[in-house]
Amino acid sequence: MVLKKITVKASDEYDIIIGKDLIHDCYEYIKTAVKSDCFAVITDDNVDEFYGNTVVSSLKNNGKTVCKLVFPHGEASKSTLTLNSIYEFLCENNITRTDCIIALGGGVTGDIAGFAAATYLRGIDYVQIPTSLLAQVDSSVGGKTAVDLPGGKNLVGAFKQPKLVLCDTGVLKTLPRDYFVDGMGEVIKYGMIKSAELFEILENHDIESIHSVLDEVILKCISIKRDIVEEDEFDKGERMLLNFGHTIGHSIEKYYNFSGISHGMAVASGMKIITRNTEDKNITKKGVYNKLVLCLAKYYLNEIINPPVSELIPACLNDKKREGGFINIIICEDIGKSFYKKLSFDEFTGFMN
Ligand code: GLY
Repeated sequence: MVLKKITVKASDEYDIIIGKDLIHDCYEYIKTAVKSDCFAVITDDNVDEFYGNTVVSSLKNNGKTVCKLVFPHGEASKSTLTLNSIYEFLCENNITRTDCIIALGGGVTGDIAGFAAATYLRGIDYVQIPTSLLAQVDSSVGGKTAVDLPGGKNLVGAFKQPKLVLCDTGVLKTLPRDYFVDGMGEVIKYGMIKSAELFEILENHDIESIHSVLDEVILKCISIKRDIVEEDEFDKGERMLLNFGHTIGHSIEKYYNFSGISHGMAVASGMKIITRNTEDKNITKKGVYNKLVLCLAKYYLNEIINPPVSELIPACLNDKKREGGFINIIICEDIGKSFYKKLSFDEFTGFMN
């Protein structure tokens, strides 16, 4: 793939550089966005094994001072405990306001390292090097950073745009299949909410053949996300569309105590539950639900996960995106065409039953 550059014009303007095997010379790209002499690389043990030294070497070979913190992989690490260890690590290594954090990894790493960057010394620069499909198409772009609390996911966070997103699609070859499937949930979501063209590509491929067009697919997802973030950086309107399937999806993850079910699978089920419901109510064009189910099946995302909807509603009403006594639901009226609707809790409960 020829190198592609997408510029995000948010409160801070930055580039997303997309291509294969960029990670080996990552400093060549980083230096165009950040002038720091000292870098703190934050990553997890899985990613460190494959790419930790690659990134550190590229920085060191260019005369930079580098320190690296590795934490255990998994959502459990997206905690205030890990966050504290990151702050201590930054202090111990004398990281100052002119230095830079590199978030090297998937969504957990990007979110927690980004939040550390947003808050340490009231904010320092950071660069995202996303290594999972989910992080490449979604979480590394748009500046949402957060950690989880015992009360729920992403309950403490900040908007802080990175200085650069370096999206190396070549690293996906070392991504375990389950993680790839997880990311495909978000990819299908983009097709559903914004692009019939993307959805058509997805339904014409499957988990094997999609790799032949993956760069094009990633580029389309990132372009959609860029457009949405530029229009609504702070999540007051259009950006809520990215939440399609997520309110119910998060409540499914909670129902299963965040274990044994991936985020992608939960979001896939959330998209199905809401679309079956809106199609029954003639809000969604007939046939969309079936198309969604068939497409999800091609990417192993059509497992039957059916907690009773009545059990999911209380967690939905607790969603962090609720506004007072109201909740926004995202509805696809057709493939590639979506809107959000504000409902009172009673209306939502009635709507889902
Ligand atoms: N991942 C959803 C958003 O960035 O708004």
